[in-house]
Amino acid sequence: MPFTIQQATWRDLQDLYRLEHTCFEEDAWPALDLLGVLTFPGIVRLKAEWGGKMVGFIGGETRDHQQTGWIITLGVLEEYRRHGVAKALLQECEQQLATRSMRLCVRVSNENAIRLYKDAGYMQVEIWPQYYRGGEDALVLEKYLV
Ligand SMILES: CC(C)(COP(=O)(O)OP(=O)(O)OC[C@H]1O[C@@H](n2cnc3c(N)ncnc32)[C@H](O)[C@@H]1OP(=O)(O)O)[C@@H](O)C(=O)NCCC(=O)NCCS
Repeated sequence: MPFTIQQATWRDLQDLYRLEHTCFEEDAWPALDLLGVLTFPGIVRLKAEWGGKMVGFIGGETRDHQQTGWIITLGVLEEYRRHGVAKALLQECEQQLATRSMRLCVRVSNENAIRLYKDAGYMQVEIWPQYYRGGEDALVLEKYLV
């Protein structure tokens, strides 16, 4: 693999801010929320580095008294996509959260991400109507790990 997966820290804030705004445009989180992802206790925060550059990031947390893991953000820079970076970040995040099940939500139109998640074993369990900015619905996907 030409990339490595490592823990991210507050020092990655600037790179994460750029990555988030490139990947998510109108859905991008503000800097303060990103700082929270990089510093709050209990959050799994992993970056993918390729040639010393942050090219991908995943954040995950536990909810429901540690029963369920949630992917809260996942993005890979466009030039580095289709090389397995997201798949590797997702696998490592699932392992580090070590919950019985995982959940996430995704825009219904985001076919690439939905394919990634379904290939990784996630299945649709709910729809949250008009969850996203602009009024688009969210699919809630779930995967059981044990
Ligand atoms: C979705 C995203 C994270 C995928 O990142 P990636 O590093 O390119 O994904 P991977 O290379 O690990 O792909 C793993 C699998 O997902 C599926 N997949 C990912 N991108 C795909 C695409 N553009 N077209 C078709 N299938 C795709 C494929 O099954 C792929 O396996 P394969 O390459 O062996 O066919 C990336 O496109 C992205 O950052 N998009 C913008 C942000 C976003 O939508 N994040 C998810 C929000 S819920």
